[in-house]
Amino acid sequence: MFQRTKRTHEQLRSYRYFGPDDLRSFGHRSRQKQSGFGTEEFEGKPVIGILNTWNDLISCHAHFKQRVEDVKRGIWQAGGFPVEVPVMGLSETFMKPTSMYYRNFLAMEAEEVLRTYPIDAAVLMGGCDKTTPALLMGAVTADVPSIFMPGGPMNKTSWRGDQLGSGSDVWKYWAERSAGRLGCEAWCELEDHIAASPGHCMTMGTASTMTSITETMGMSLPGSASVPATHSSHSRMASATGQQAVELAWYNVKPSEIMTADAFDNGITALMAMGGSTNAIVHLMALAGRCQVPLTLERFDQISQTTPVVGNIRPAGKYVMGDFFEAGGLRALLARIADLLKLTAPNVAGSTLADAIKDAEVYDEDVIRPRDSPICENNSLAVLRGNLCPDGAVIKPAAAEKQLHQHRGPAVVFKNYPDLKARIDDPSLALTKDHVIVLQNAGPLGAPGIPEWGMLPIPKYLLEQGVRDMVRISDARMSGTSYGACVLHVAPESFVGGPLAFVQNGDMITLDVTGRTLQLEISDEELASRKAAWKQPEHRFTRGYGKLYFDETTQANIGCDFRFLHADGSTDPEPSIY
Ligand code: FES
Ligand code: MG
Repeated sequence: MFQRTKRTHEQLRSYRYFGPDDLRSFGHRSRQKQSGFGTEEFEGKPVIGILNTWNDLISCHAHFKQRVEDVKRGIWQAGGFPVEVPVMGLSETFMKPTSMYYRNFLAMEAEEVLRTYPIDAAVLMGGCDKTTPALLMGAVTADVPSIFMPGGPMNKTSWRGDQLGSGSDVWKYWAERSAGRLGCEAWCELEDHIAASPGHCMTMGTASTMTSITETMGMSLPGSASVPATHSSHSRMASATGQQAVELAWYNVKPSEIMTADAFDNGITALMAMGGSTNAIVHLMALAGRCQVPLTLERFDQISQTTPVVGNIRPAGKYVMGDFFEAGGLRALLARIADLLKLTAPNVAGSTLADAIKDAEVYDEDVIRPRDSPICENNSLAVLRGNLCPDGAVIKPAAAEKQLHQHRGPAVVFKNYPDLKARIDDPSLALTKDHVIVLQNAGPLGAPGIPEWGMLPIPKYLLEQGVRDMVRISDARMSGTSYGACVLHVAPESFVGGPLAFVQNGDMITLDVTGRTLQLEISDEELASRKAAWKQPEHRFTRGYGKLYFDETTQANIGCDFRFLHADGSTDPEPSIY
């Protein structure tokens, strides 16, 4: 448990709202009673805010409506007073142009909800991709004691004898359908099977990656991130999370004390060992900016070079999260790479990472591989530099065909996504497997929202010839469930005049993953003259959230947070209660 003095109830934040003998406190107490609670039910208890990202359009969180009752049960049992506060559910599936466009919106909402209400500690209920980083970003900025409750992966499922992976298999079977090898009936049947229960995507997509990183960083209970959403353990974990939130309130353990530089190193090491999503880089950069932890893209690359991929999970490997859970889950994976972790890092359970993974065992050596036979030795993710991406770009070598790790080929350029969609299958382009497909204006501002378009489609006629991977370059992201030799997050993006904007058809491009370079083979003079002739596309938003987004969003290499939300060392004052 925490090595510090327990606070008295007069020291809780909520005491300022409920404790004093004055007009405002009278109002607050009387309104608790309006909700049906007697004095003895709330007086002197820590108020635990449950930030619930449930709504009817975030199907990954369909169980949150009931699961929150388990969290509340845990809070009551530990002597806290639970208050459920719904916050924006970022639905990866339904939000357009992309849920990423709203990540900072939820982060702001979470921060302000924690600040304005009488909340002593928070349970953050998230899981579907962007909900996790958004809630953590808000929580650490408000710096109210918080614990993350991971939504859990959806059930394993199979179709016609083959295990299905959400996301990954959609892309795979769509390629089959585009190549004319999968009929309409089979495609519709697949629709019935691919998402078989509540819970987030059950591959090592962005959701599983981020919840696993969160646990590794110490912000969730040990063992929580791997529990499938519909397993009875999930309800028990939710209750235990609620109970622990009460402890965090009494001992005033703040997210900034947990999410330290060591915690980030641990999170990044887990990311690499799991073969996790490229999206984690953008989110961790943004989160580090909130935590005042200095972090660079190069740190990801360094850790990647020394961390073996031992998690054999799709899309880099073979299995899904249900198998991972049965094989021992995240704790077992971390135990396997314990020598690469900073084991003294603290967690919300009041222990350390060493305690969290102690005694964890691997029950299936193919799902969590031994150190001497990993999925790959290193290079789960790689950071590229070069004249095409002066501020960096990202690739996932583990999910790309090996022969494409070194590649030189002529560019074929699409000026935006509609252009790509309209022309990619046009046989008159006469693309070969050696071409490099380039998409411009798909970045943080250009798209906007840096959507997951980065797994650019391969022309139908090449798919029919059996081509399954090509070098593709964009300033977009790619879904964590995607795969291929896709260079992503090119910075600066083309919309703001990054060199990607100046690539022309036929320019030769060289990708060298080992050397970590991405070069456009034109002279500096030619690049400069193309730049001089270039005109920035018009901003599409002049008002509202879109304007705020356009004015404030940073580039991918620093996390796409809003500039004014970066930590600057100052703390916002507690709200006055007059
Ligand atoms: Fe929600 Fe994949 S769609 S996690
Ligand atoms: Mg996704």
